[in-house]
Formats: sequence, C-alpha cells, structure tokens
Amino acid sequence: MTLGADVNLGDLERHPEPVLAQLRAEEPVSWVPAMEMWLVTRWDDVVYMEEHPELFSAATEPSFLARTLGDNMLTCDPPEHTRLQTILQPPFTPGGRSGRFVADELVTIADQLLDHVDPTGFDLMADYAQPLSAGSLATVLGLDAHGFDRMWGWCEGLCADLANFENDPELAAIGARAKADLGAVLAQRIESAGDDDSAISWFVQEGATPEEIVNNVRLMISGGINEPRDGIGMVIWVLLTQPELRTAVDAEPTKMRRLIEEVFRVYSPVGTVTRQATRDLELAGTAIAEGELVSGVLRSINLDESHWSNPTEIDLARREGSHAAFALGAHRCLGEWLGRQEVRVGVERLLARFPDLRLDPAHAVELHGFEFRGPRAVHVLTSAPE
Ligand code: HEM
Repeated sequence: MTLGADVNLGDLERHPEPVLAQLRAEEPVSWVPAMEMWLVTRWDDVVYMEEHPELFSAATEPSFLARTLGDNMLTCDPPEHTRLQTILQPPFTPGGRSGRFVADELVTIADQLLDHVDPTGFDLMADYAQPLSAGSLATVLGLDAHGFDRMWGWCEGLCADLANFENDPELAAIGARAKADLGAVLAQRIESAGDDDSAISWFVQEGATPEEIVNNVRLMISGGINEPRDGIGMVIWVLLTQPELRTAVDAEPTKMRRLIEEVFRVYSPVGTVTRQATRDLELAGTAIAEGELVSGVLRSINLDESHWSNPTEIDLARREGSHAAFALGAHRCLGEWLGRQEVRVGVERLLARFPDLRLDPAHAVELHGFEFRGPRAVHVLTSAPE
C-alpha cells in the first residue's frame, strides 16, 4: 500500500499542507490513483522536470487546457513554444504595454474602484480585487471598452469549462457561451488592429494567426485574472492577521515587494505544473512509464524543508533565492511582472484609502482549492473598533 493510494482531491482542496508534507517526507514521487497522475513534491525533482521538457512534455494527452481553449502556448513544447513566447511576451514586460499601463493607469483604476465600495465594509475579493485584476488584463490586451464585468464573465465561463472533468453539459454550455461572446469581440479586435499600443494589436503586427491569438488570449483570461485577485486577497489577509508584518511594511514601504513574494511562496495560488512522460524514465529512483501524467506540485516545493529554512514562516529578510509560484521552466508565467504590480498597487491603494482596515470578525477567511488556491471572500471593515 502506498501513501498516494490514500490521497484524495477533497483533502488536497481543503487542507493540502499536511498531505503534501507527508508525501515530501515519505513518498516524494507518488502515484495518486484518485487523480490518475504522479505527484512530485520535492524541490529538486520538480526543478529537474522543469529543466527537461523533452522528458516531461506540456503537450499532454488528454489535455483539458487544449480541449477548452484550443492549442496554446501552454500545450506545446520548444521550439514551437519558443516561437509563440517571442510573439506573446513583450506586451507583458516593464518595457512594453504593461509597463506603460502600470505607470499611467493602474493607480487610477484602483482608486476609482475604491470610490465605489461600501465605505463601512465590503468583500474585497468581489468588490475590488476581482474587477481590478479583470480590468488590468482587459486594458493591457485592449479589451477594456467592453467593461471589466464582461471580462470577468469570460474568465468565469472559461474556468467553469476547464474544471469540467465530468463532462457536465451545463458547464460545457457555459464555456461555449463565453467562447462565442469573446470570439465575436476578438474577431472584431483583430480585424481593426492598428498601432494603438494594445497587446492584441502587437500580436497581430508580430504575425500571430487569428487562431493563435484567440486561443492564447483565452489562456491569458482563464489564467491571468484569478491569481492576481487571490494574491491581493491573501496579502491583505496576511497583513491583517500578522500585525508585526504590517508594522514592518509601514516602517519601510519597500518591504511590500518582499512580503508579496513571501505570500506567493507560502500560499502558491497555482498548485501544479502538469506534464506527460515522453518515455519510460526514472525520477528520484521511481519508475515512471511513457505516457503517464506527472504533476510537479509548486505548492509543495515552495514549502520544501530541504530547500527553505522555516518554510511556513513569512520572513521579510529571507535570502534563499526565488520561489516557484510562477513556475521555473520554459512555461514560467508570461504575466508575472504585470501580476506582481497588480498585487502591489492593489494592496497599497487599499491601505492608503483605508488605513484602519481590519478583517470583519463576523466572516472567517478560508483558503480553498488545490489547482488554484485562494480565499473565496475577504470581508473587511474600514474603521478602527469603537
Ligand atoms: C500574479 C499571479 C500569477 C501566478 C501565481 C501565476 C502562475 C503561473 C504559473 C505557475 C504558470 C505555469 C503553468 C504551467 O507551467 O503549467 C503560469 C503560466 C502562465 N501565466 Fe501566469 N500567473 C499569474 C499571473 C498571470 C497573469 C497576470 C497573466 C496574464 C497574461 C498570466 C498568464 C500566464 C500565461 C499565458 C502562462 C503560460 C506561459 C507559457 O506557457 O509559457 N499569469 N502562470
């Protein structure tokens, strides 16, 4: 009997840390029948996977990503991946559209959203972090004219379909509606692309085909909104539950960047990178057969005791190198620079507007999810207790 045989998705979604800690200690490459894949939970082994795309392919079969979104940069390997990355990456760098967006527009969007929250108390996930995250990506892509709510609707529809492991026709229909609506908007956007500084116009100018643009924009929308939103929620939750961190950041505001990195490390909004063995191989002494799915668990390696000292502690002075929350290999997050800025500016503006912000004691904050993890809601009050 192996440990993996007892692992179930429910436990991993509710409370992954103890399960992952036991796997790291006793069975670091573990076959989990409930998921029909290997879970790889130690830092060195996931680094090896990430360094060897020729052994661990992103072009998995079956692939929920390809089924829902169409072939995209996350469902292919180098050299095809490198070609797409060269076209798609520049608008997400500080020197590209994202840099100009962060310098000129992000603060204004955050402040406008804060103008409309209930000044006595609100759910910062639904009322602030979510529209800020959807609006940021919409603006960089050049889809903001359609409203932040519509962007969020596309994200929800695509994600419902992506998580439709049981082929539920209702979820498939929700996904199909989102794709049809987004598809019509994108067709028009591609048709009218010019020198308007949007990422989509950039993709067209760089020679991406309409299908490549549609599929990869679907990927960006399904993967680039929930995570910055969850990052904002988690950083605020950490600051409001660990007052010593708030004091440290207030005393030295540049520490906010370190805090964000530590929150990404300890809580890893994206749980795994899933690949497929291209041949029979061995990983850390365990035999893996060609065709088997192998999941590198970022959430586990970011807490690996053999790599980090005091791994579960948020340490603003940590000097142990960068974490794996944005992955480590060829598919390292395309939007990581933009995502980090959204979280930083989102948190800074919120605290500037409401310096007495505190958690609403009537609502506990609970993290949920394995593949994607974050708080469903973070209810805050804006005034100091009487
Ligand atoms: C801020 C929080 C974010 C986190 C923690 C995060 C995390 C990740 C991770 C772990 C991967 C690797 C997935 C894999 O290899 O299977 C990834 C890939 C990707 N992310 Fe992010 N992401 C974030 C924000 C964003 C944003 C804002 C965008 C907007 C464009 C984005 C777009 C993408 C894309 C397109 C890929 C695929 C890259 C490739 O295949 O080369 N992400 N992200």
